[in-house]
Amino acid sequence: MKENRLDQARTVTWREDKLFFLDQTRLPIELVHEEQKSAEQVWDSIKKLKVRGAPAIGVAGAYGLVVAVRKHLDLSAEDFLDKIREQADYLNTSRPTAVNLSWGLKRMTAKAEAEAAINPLVTHIFEKMKEEAVLIHEEDKELSRAMGENGLALIKEGMGILTHCNAGALAASILGTATAPMYLAHEKGVSFRVYADETRPLLQGARLTSWELQQAGIDVTLISDNMAASMMAEGLIDMVIVGTDRVAANGDVCNKIGTLGVAILASYFKIPFYVACPASTVDMNTAEGKSIEIEERDSEEITFFGERRTGPEGIKVRNPAFDVTPHKLVTGLITEQGIIGAPYKENLAALYS
Ligand code: MRU
Repeated sequence: MKENRLDQARTVTWREDKLFFLDQTRLPIELVHEEQKSAEQVWDSIKKLKVRGAPAIGVAGAYGLVVAVRKHLDLSAEDFLDKIREQADYLNTSRPTAVNLSWGLKRMTAKAEAEAAINPLVTHIFEKMKEEAVLIHEEDKELSRAMGENGLALIKEGMGILTHCNAGALAASILGTATAPMYLAHEKGVSFRVYADETRPLLQGARLTSWELQQAGIDVTLISDNMAASMMAEGLIDMVIVGTDRVAANGDVCNKIGTLGVAILASYFKIPFYVACPASTVDMNTAEGKSIEIEERDSEEITFFGERRTGPEGIKVRNPAFDVTPHKLVTGLITEQGIIGAPYKENLAALYS
């Protein structure tokens, strides 16, 4: 039987008080788990997309905060709490769009503050922070499994499913978000085809999604982003499932650049467009998608393809990493509590406010 290397790919690992990230920039060629020894290294790993995907950076940030403050156990409780807040703010500057990072860091800071009120011993606060990070990690696995179970019924025998970017196991702790129903359907013997958009400019669909689904034995076809329309026109796509980095309170969905185009295409071809969205990605404090900060990345991601220059020197470049799909184009949000549809504002409020 062919070896499944996905089993060896652990996005984030906490083992014997050491933190490891799988360096996803090296996939699909190499599987390297890199130890994270400082706040600066964690910041850099998130910024450079060694660890990426909304749920994964929430978990990475939580453990990263533990790594960031562990050399400050000699401080007074008050100074230790200040250090935690300072380091959480610092780690939060690594990437602005996925709400999971700030969500994880806020949860860790709140836990430290609550524990300090119970027992102001710094070692006690620190131990409780470690426990909280492990809990966030475990909960992330449960969220994926629940979304998978809730989305399972959508996947019918013989279907073609299009996905964009990587909302897979590599973007979370297990199973992923958009891919969770696919993994569970595959486990149950349902046969279906997945079309993975390569996802310019950083190719998460090509390097990560097509790799992980192939490793799992799922029938996956890699296409370039500009082929999605013609695959739909050919009748090969019955459903789209994508992940998300932040869902606003009105249901607008922020996800990898290009998702909006896929949603518009799906609407044109009357193909259902679903978004897998765990509780940690819902931002009830942001009313609408247009208020979400969109990360603008380095222009060289556009003017170079690997080492090779593909755009003229000095050319003006735009490189937004994400876009916002209006809730009107979303058929349903696959959450850990079930699939919800319009009216999103009311339905999200009922679940998450
Ligand atoms: O820039 P990335 O690779 O972090 O972008 C990831 C995405 O846009 C994913 O679709 C999203 O985070 C959902 S992951 C379950």
